[in-house]
Amino acid sequence: MIFAAKIILDEIFGAPNYRNLIIRQKCNPKNYTRKAYGKTADFILFYTKTAQYIWNPPVEKLSEKSLKEYQYIEPETGRRFMKVPLHAPGTRNGETGKPWRGILPPPGKHWQYPPAKLDEMDARGDIFWSKNGNPRRKVYLDQHPGMGVQDIWLDFRDAHNQNIKITGYPTEKNSDLLRRIVAASSNPGDLVLDCFAGSGTTLAVADELQRNWIGVDNSPEAFATILERFHRGLKPMGDYSEHRRQWEDRYIQRSLFELMINEGLNEDETNIPESIVTDFSVYIDRDRIAEVRHIIDRTSFPQGFPPISTDP
Ligand SMILES: C[S@@+](CC[C@H](N)C(=O)[O-])C[C@H]1O[C@@H](n2cnc3c(N)ncnc32)[C@H](O)[C@@H]1O
Repeated sequence: MIFAAKIILDEIFGAPNYRNLIIRQKCNPKNYTRKAYGKTADFILFYTKTAQYIWNPPVEKLSEKSLKEYQYIEPETGRRFMKVPLHAPGTRNGETGKPWRGILPPPGKHWQYPPAKLDEMDARGDIFWSKNGNPRRKVYLDQHPGMGVQDIWLDFRDAHNQNIKITGYPTEKNSDLLRRIVAASSNPGDLVLDCFAGSGTTLAVADELQRNWIGVDNSPEAFATILERFHRGLKPMGDYSEHRRQWEDRYIQRSLFELMINEGLNEDETNIPESIVTDFSVYIDRDRIAEVRHIIDRTSFPQGFPPISTDP
């Protein structure tokens, strides 16, 4: 749907407000039997409403290759650094074109900083002097803000192994993926909307990052899953796979929590929720209220909670 979605979103937000197409690797490589390449890519279209938008630049750790550039260690402090030139291309007639400490910048170049600033840097120990008296600037690894995140994301596969905790909702997204997006594009106190909330990953992450949130879903499965997630947190992936194998015929679309509620399966009382969300209200279509009450009654929420409203 990505190409159709792009055309629709261009119409809704305006083509200039398109920012990125992010490609995410959603699963491990597969061995396909049909005549095509394995499909491991998922696509995220990033749009903003206007040209003014919140952007908290996400960064990643430096790559091994970049780390190798920081090959020097300051003997006094043990800090790693690399050496970069103190001059830049272009001839200048002002003070940056004149000798500093008796050294002229190389032909066709100028000092990057005025002499007073160079003196200051040297006094702080930020300049490395080679044996033959050439100054270079030290760039410390511990002051590097990290590498700006690019548009191919390889680290956020969905429930892909037995060691992580999940809700068991069939389309549950990786929490770290949503954490990156919510943190980059909103600030604490802002409002995050997920109009297809599913397992509630976006909502849980938004809550954890102190954002307000609105979640919408028309599936009772999603509703039950979100409520349980808020109340009891996530469960280890291993349980879900096992139960799914056992009950596949009957429960193919059911969430882990529903299985546990209905069948009393393998509930680990010692599993303390990672985060409990209690400060929310539920708004529901009047004609579905009985269905929703029934779901709430089957969850472990205390009687009368969460508060339910049928207001529009
Ligand atoms: C791909 S899932 C969302 C997954 C979610 N991001 C997560 O982490 O679990 C899409 C969700 O949209 C819901 N949905 C589909 N059509 C809908 C509609 N017309 N109104 C509200 N929800 C809808 C489905 O019930 C499903 O839970």
